[in-house]
Amino acid sequence: MRVVEVNLGKRSYQIFVERGSIEHVGRCVADYGFRGRCFLITNETVGQIYARLVEQSLAEEGFTVKTIEVEDSERVKSLSAVEHLYREAYNFGLDRSSPVIALGGGVVGDLSGFMAATYMRGLPFFQVPTSLLAQVDSSVGGKVAVNYFVKNLIGCFYQPRAVIIDPATLDSLPAREFRAGMGEVIKYGVIWDAEFFGFLDTNSDKIKNLDPVSVEKIICRACEIKSEIVSRDEMDYGIRGILNLGHTFGHALEAAGGFEGIKHGEAVAAGICIAARISVMLGLLSEKDEASIKGLVKKYGLPFSIPGKINCDYLVEVMTKDKKNKGGLISVILPTTIGRVEYIELKPEEIGHLLRKTMFLNEG
Ligand code: NAD
Ligand code: GLY
Repeated sequence: MRVVEVNLGKRSYQIFVERGSIEHVGRCVADYGFRGRCFLITNETVGQIYARLVEQSLAEEGFTVKTIEVEDSERVKSLSAVEHLYREAYNFGLDRSSPVIALGGGVVGDLSGFMAATYMRGLPFFQVPTSLLAQVDSSVGGKVAVNYFVKNLIGCFYQPRAVIIDPATLDSLPAREFRAGMGEVIKYGVIWDAEFFGFLDTNSDKIKNLDPVSVEKIICRACEIKSEIVSRDEMDYGIRGILNLGHTFGHALEAAGGFEGIKHGEAVAAGICIAARISVMLGLLSEKDEASIKGLVKKYGLPFSIPGKINCDYLVEVMTKDKKNKGGLISVILPTTIGRVEYIELKPEEIGHLLRKTMFLNEG
C-alpha cells in the first residue's frame, strides 16, 4: 500500500492507494474509531458494481449501513439532492459520530462531502473515489459543493478523514471517463513537475492500457502534488489557484456545450492547450514547449483546440463571470515552461482577440 500525507495541522489526513482496498473500507473506517450507524452514498452505476462489497466490509466491522444511490448525473449536485440526503439521514438516526462514505466519482464526492459538512455541523467524512478524475483531484483537498445557477456556487472546504483509493476500480470505468481524468493528470505535469510530464509521455501506452504499476504511479504522484499545493494554501487564496490551469477556458467550453457535450477533463485538456497558445502569443512560452503540451494532450486522445462552431464572444462572456476575476479583468493561468505557470490578468477584449487568433491558427 502507498500512503500520501495531506498535511493540514489538525485536519491532516492520509490517502491510501492500494489495489483491492475497496474490500477493506469497513476496516479502514473502523480503524478511525467509528462504530454504529454509517451512511454510504453512491450512484446507480457505481453502486451496482461496488456497493455490495463496501456494505459487506462495513457490516463485517459491525456497522449498520444505510446506502443511498443517487442519480448518475451532474444534475444531482443540487440543493434538492442534499435535502433528500438530510431527510434520509434524519430518518435513519445518524448522529455526529456517524461516518459518511462517498463511493463514486467527483459528483458523488462533492455532493456527499457537502452533505457531511453541513448535517449537524459536520459528520466524519471518507472518500472512496472510483473515477480517475476523483482519484487524482476531486477527492483530495476538501472542496465540496453543489451547483446553483452555475457550477459549485454553494459549497465549503471540508476535509475528509481519509481517502481510500483502489486503482482496480478503474477497470470498470468507461474509456472516455479515463481519458477525461488524464486531462487533470497532464495538468499536474504542466504546472509542477516536468519529470512527471515526461513520464506521462514515455509511458502513454502502458497508462492507456491500465498497466497497474503505471496507473498507481500517476495516481500517487498526482495526489502528492495536489497535497503539496493544498497544504500550502488550503483555502485557495494563493498558490492553490494554479490547479485551475486550463479551467477558465475549460469552464467556458463546458458552458458553451450546456455542460452536456464535453466532459470536465476534456474541457480542461483543451483549456490547457488554449492557455499554452495564448502564452506563446504573449511571448511567455516557447513554441517547443507548446508543441510538447499539445502533443501529450493529443496522445491521450483529448481535445486540443476550440471546436470551430463555438462563439468566442460567448466564451469571453462566461469568463467574465469567473469567481477569480477582480476589477473587470479576467484572471488566467498560463504555462511559462513545462512545470511552471504564471498568473496573468487580461481585459475581456484582449482575451477575445487572443481567442479569435487561437481559433484562426487551429490546424486540426
Ligand atoms: P462523475 O462523478 O460523473 O463520474 C463520471 C462517470 O463515471 C459517471 O457516470 C460515474 O457513474 C462513472 N463511474 C465512476 N467511477 C466508475 C467506475 N469505477 N466504474 C464505472 N463507472 C464509474 O464525474 P467525475 O469526472 O468523476 O467528476 C466530475 C465532478 O467532479 C464535477 O462535478 C466537478 O465539478 C467535480 N470536481 C470537483 C473537484 C474538487 O476539488 N472538489 C475537482 C475537480 C472536479
Ligand atoms: N480542483 C481545484 C482545487 O481543488 O483547488
